Amino acid sequence: MRVGSAAEHTEAEASPFMAGLLDGRLPATCYADYLLALAAVYGALEGAGRALVPEASRPDPLAAAVWDPVLERGAALDDDLRLWVGEDWRSRAEPGPAVTAYARELAASREDPLAFVAHHYTRYLGDLSGGQAIGRIITRTYGLEDGAGTAFYRFPGVPKPKLYKDSYRARLDALGLSEPDQHRVVEHVRAAFAHNQAVFAELAAAADRRAPVNL
Ligand code: HEM
Repeated sequence: MRVGSAAEHTEAEASPFMAGLLDGRLPATCYADYLLALAAVYGALEGAGRALVPEASRPDPLAAAVWDPVLERGAALDDDLRLWVGEDWRSRAEPGPAVTAYARELAASREDPLAFVAHHYTRYLGDLSGGQAIGRIITRTYGLEDGAGTAFYRFPGVPKPKLYKDSYRARLDALGLSEPDQHRVVEHVRAAFAHNQAVFAELAAAADRRAPVNL
């Protein structure tokens, strides 16, 4: 999965929105827009995960290999959004077409466990990898203290991300997917990256409308 999406990963890192965020060039309102997009994305992904595993009469074995409640970002995003947007953040979310399309595909993955696994991997392994450095940069850029507003990047239930990622990969390998299924998962990972890129482009366009920052 990592090898199959290496080019897409490099593109994601280079996207103007991400680059602007990491260089500290984005106004706080744009970071708030990003968090609102993430809330739509994780709401859909985590809804699909619960439908496939804890709420299913027979948990799906593929989804069960990766699903883990300690990863869930819903509560952390709620904490952050209360700070960045306000208590009423839910009524202020106006997801654009790219966020809506991504959320729709995530919600539909409850019918397609291979797609669910791919989406799960793309989001959470990213959060447990580069996401850790991004959290530190956000804290510095916006002068935050004591972890305020950056709950999204903290995983109290995952004290050692490196070990967690190793065991995650081992669980995926132990599924013993057939070669065609492995290809399908990699295609879904690529599609997941494409959705993230489209969301970044949408957020960059919105940022530019608010205040041209030359992304
Ligand atoms: C500027 C933005 C980003 C930076 C600096 C970054 C950085 C990193 C780093 C350092 C790793 C660890 C690589 C390793 O363990 O060998 C990683 C892994 C990963 N990233 Fe990113 N990343 C960024 C954006 C993204 C985005 C937007 C996504 C997808 C939504 C993503 C998904 C992943 C995934 C799935 C992995 C795990 C690869 C694996 O170990 O199998 N990353 N990232």
